[in-house]
Amino acid sequence: MLGRLALLPLVAGVLVTRRVATEDPLRPACITVEDPFDDLRDAKIYALVYYGRRSYVDILNAYLERNLRSNGGVLDGVIFAMVKYTIEDMNYLIMLQRRNPKSYIIPWHMEGGAWDVIWRLADEPGAYYIKIDDDVVYIADGAIAEMIREKRRGRFLFVSANVVNHGILSAVHQEMSAIPHLAKPPLPEGRTMQEQKLGPWQFKGDLMTDPRFRIEHTFYSDCVWRRWDCAALVHEALLWRLEQNSSCLFDFGIFDFHAHGYETMSDGLGRSIDWNDNFFAFQHEDFNDIDWVGVATDDERQMSTLHPKQRGEHAGR
Ligand SMILES: *[C@@H]1O[C@H](CO)[C@@H](O)[C@H](O)[C@H]1NC(C)=O
Repeated sequence: MLGRLALLPLVAGVLVTRRVATEDPLRPACITVEDPFDDLRDAKIYALVYYGRRSYVDILNAYLERNLRSNGGVLDGVIFAMVKYTIEDMNYLIMLQRRNPKSYIIPWHMEGGAWDVIWRLADEPGAYYIKIDDDVVYIADGAIAEMIREKRRGRFLFVSANVVNHGILSAVHQEMSAIPHLAKPPLPEGRTMQEQKLGPWQFKGDLMTDPRFRIEHTFYSDCVWRRWDCAALVHEALLWRLEQNSSCLFDFGIFDFHAHGYETMSDGLGRSIDWNDNFFAFQHEDFNDIDWVGVATDDERQMSTLHPKQRGEHAGR
């Protein structure tokens, strides 16, 4: 026991940002506090990454390593579900695994096939899993711990991260006035459109009043889901707030994806999804009665919509 304790790094905790109200609701104080994650010591927590594209995981990996227990975080391991990859992608992943031999797990026994194969990797009773898409490029410190804490309260079957570029939550952020009016910088003489993307968008005001940037409150919003410039706006809004130390404005507290029921939105072609499941917490036990054929056919629809419906439970953030 003593030997084990001696191996623990001497970290008091990770600095996390909390929202504290002031007299102006659009100017909360974003304070930083130390969170030692003491309440999560006894929990087994794994990230389940849909792996395929090394150019994205090159960015995501920094956040995964930062969140490992060995680095003061809460992740016991990272399981890489191999989805679609080249030889180069695979070699890159093997290199990452060598850097983190105790915590990075590549399940080579995974057989090719449908989507259900990935989800069957979450096979440890009692453990918590965080499914993370490989194109996530930023994770706020403490975000994973907050998801597990909410999951443990037992109110929601699935707990989503507070994702900035998201079918549903992007609209919620705008409704909560977290997305300021930012405008694309003007194109300088002699530059191409491509180069224009390099500059930060410019602040015009607290509220986005440009009618071209209204994010419809539906999974299938034109703005964000279909249009690159709306997706760019929500990313720029996060970057701007991080720079202004006001990122806690994105923290709206809690949100129930199923407050209005199930399958309330449709793509018009018979597919109905209640929320994007690109980053969410679940447990092995949550799947013991899942429709595996449904998972194999359309795992996002099964996870985010049909399974909560079948259980009569809600998903939330
Ligand atoms: C944000 O916080 C950092 C660190 O405290 C500080 O150096 C910086 O000036 C702040 N930025 C703004 C815009 O207030």
